[in-house]
Amino acid sequence: MNAAVEHLIQARKVKFDLTQSPIYWAETPFVTHAINPLHILLPQGELWFCRVFNRVLPEITDPQLYADVKGFIGQEAIHSRSHSHVIDFYKEHGIDLSSFVHLTEVLFKDLVDELPLKQRWLAKLLGKNWLIFQVGAIAAIEHFTSILGMWVLEEKAINNFDPEILRLIRWHGAEEVEHRSVAFDLFQHLCKTKLGFYAGRQFTMSLVFPLFILLWTRAIRFTIEQDSNLKKGQLPTSMLGILKGIEKEFEQSARLPSVKFIIKSVGSWMKPSYNPRHEGNDQLAAYYFKAYGF
Ligand SMILES: [Fe+2]
Ligand SMILES: [Fe+2]
Repeated sequence: MNAAVEHLIQARKVKFDLTQSPIYWAETPFVTHAINPLHILLPQGELWFCRVFNRVLPEITDPQLYADVKGFIGQEAIHSRSHSHVIDFYKEHGIDLSSFVHLTEVLFKDLVDELPLKQRWLAKLLGKNWLIFQVGAIAAIEHFTSILGMWVLEEKAINNFDPEILRLIRWHGAEEVEHRSVAFDLFQHLCKTKLGFYAGRQFTMSLVFPLFILLWTRAIRFTIEQDSNLKKGQLPTSMLGILKGIEKEFEQSARLPSVKFIIKSVGSWMKPSYNPRHEGNDQLAAYYFKAYGF
């Protein structure tokens, strides 16, 4: 661990003031509630990333990767804290999202943490494979955070969102782009063979992608149902209705990402040559860090 490392990834000091932000900070109720799962799902999910990566630190033999993982942990911890402020913001506006946040707490703390399904015998049975699987799952999740991070940086149609929440999601997007290959590199580092790494990537994605779509649409449905400003049936709440609504919004206004694009991106991930380094735009991320003074 004594070799010199180029420590590029590090947590930035950020502060967001949401006192002037409107409930529908993304212009319309549907666009706002379609993006709000970010604030609901990420706080517990990103703390789980940190716990897993902290456990894996002693396994890392490459000094650069070790430094990158430390930087990743620092960034994700601050992402988690920053998004949880939006949950408080909604509570103050009469929209209580805490029971869905509790559900994510059960998922990330009871089902997929150090003891799988909270079972000590299962942890013993799986041994180190459980930790490697967790890292693989995080690498698959980070595929989505990095492509969605790129989307928030590139998409000009969202420029009229509330400036403070837009600053929050663009700062987060830029850091996701910045650390997009850390989980991927770590998973590769822990896999013994190239074939094991490739098969592991496909296996974890086959679990993560459906779960991502399920949690995303369920969180949208929950938020819509908690919003008493909306009339019953005003916005779609079924999984298919929500996904169709998102695609329609993408085609009409580009204020939401395309579901088709997200599905296609899974195809890129499946290619043996895939590497997140080849995607994403570091210059654009650096532009936003500078523009926002981070
Ligand atoms: Fe993050
Ligand atoms: Fe991330």
